[in-house]
Amino acid sequence: MSGVAELPGDKSISHRYAIIAALAEGTSEIYNYASAADCRSTLECLKRLGVPVEIGRERVRIAGAGLHGLKAPRRALDAENSGTTMRMLAGVLAGQPFTSTITGDRSLRNRPMARIAAPLRQMGAAVSGVDGDRAPLEIRGGNLHAIDYTLPVPSAQVKSAILLAGLFADGVTSVHEAVRTRDHTELALREFGASVEIGRGESEPAGPGAPAAANRAEAIVRIHPHPKLQARQIIVPGDLSAAVFLIGAALVLPGSQLLLHNAGLNPTRTRVLDFLIGMGATINVASLQSREGELVGEIAVRHSPLEGGTISGAHVAEMIDELPLLAALGPYTEKGIEFRDAKELRVKESDRIAALAEGLRRMGAGVEEFPDGLRVEGRASGKLRGAKVDPQGDHRIAMALAVAALGGEGDSTILDSDCAAVSFPEFFSTLAQLRDTGSH
Ligand code: S3P
Repeated sequence: MSGVAELPGDKSISHRYAIIAALAEGTSEIYNYASAADCRSTLECLKRLGVPVEIGRERVRIAGAGLHGLKAPRRALDAENSGTTMRMLAGVLAGQPFTSTITGDRSLRNRPMARIAAPLRQMGAAVSGVDGDRAPLEIRGGNLHAIDYTLPVPSAQVKSAILLAGLFADGVTSVHEAVRTRDHTELALREFGASVEIGRGESEPAGPGAPAAANRAEAIVRIHPHPKLQARQIIVPGDLSAAVFLIGAALVLPGSQLLLHNAGLNPTRTRVLDFLIGMGATINVASLQSREGELVGEIAVRHSPLEGGTISGAHVAEMIDELPLLAALGPYTEKGIEFRDAKELRVKESDRIAALAEGLRRMGAGVEEFPDGLRVEGRASGKLRGAKVDPQGDHRIAMALAVAALGGEGDSTILDSDCAAVSFPEFFSTLAQLRDTGSH
């Protein structure tokens, strides 16, 4: 693989800009809005809440309803496959003086929502789900109280739901996190004019086996209610969580050299690059600049021998979306890849531990599955071979298995590979284009 690749707009950031623009006064223009199907789901939900949304080729225009201008939807909101849409919008809906319902596809209806229902109830919203707080969720909002909440599970989606609900509360809402998760909501709220304080503190390791103090950067986020949010013209950085699949393909294919422009490099997202570099990957970051509170830059990657390694503790949350790709690199490393403390992976778009174990085994990888993780054997256990694999409808599993397949012998078939469109619709065409360029 060689050449320069275009990255889709960041999925996490696109959701946030769209939702906050909908609550702002005036018309926002969002450039490089993610092509991810998930981010389209957010726009469709916003339309049902009465927000005019115009989707153009270059930008999305959102005519903000103001903090108190959303309308009761006539039908249930449909977040489709998107956990971020459902959890973040639940925070907004909790602040509305009407009752609404939000649902999703079969995968999303199976995912845990108690983690947002609990804090939103504490704030005063009535939230009812089915079968142990699963979607569809009915949310009767209004009259929210500020809370001081410690996240029981590290989750940027839960933190964001509480912060968005905090916009409608009767005082300052605080969220404490033991492991710092992506901070795009905080940064975006500030960009649109909200008053958000971000405090950081180092805590001691929790006990034997706990990660070193340096990895446990605690954060406290405080949001002041009822800001006057102002429309913005804003550019979404390229999606690093999509980029890693191209980076992974370059790492496994000998002779590869890739350049990625305009990549989002927010420090709460870049741990995966540190980890890859630590394993021996030749990755260089250049032209770093701050744009609208987010860091962006250029990433250059070259095929490199990889040593392998283990991910556990706080690092799991920092690389949660990249673990499938790292598992797929396992067979191309010297010592293999192992991750533990990663039970959360079982409640993503699929049970990612099971889906990876099955897919990689079919290609001939040596895999051991644990309740909270996975071990994928390194190079010594043999070369991967082509196989027919099922990503279980999960975009990141489809792309991870594609990377594993690229470095192996023979052709692989990835069933239902279109599911990659949930986060990176151009993934397969980008791969094809980069491979062609390399052969000329
Ligand atoms: C996301 C947060 C993470 C991540 C997801 C996107 C976000 O989920 O896995 O893909 O945009 O806030 P959790 O909050 O469940 O960890």
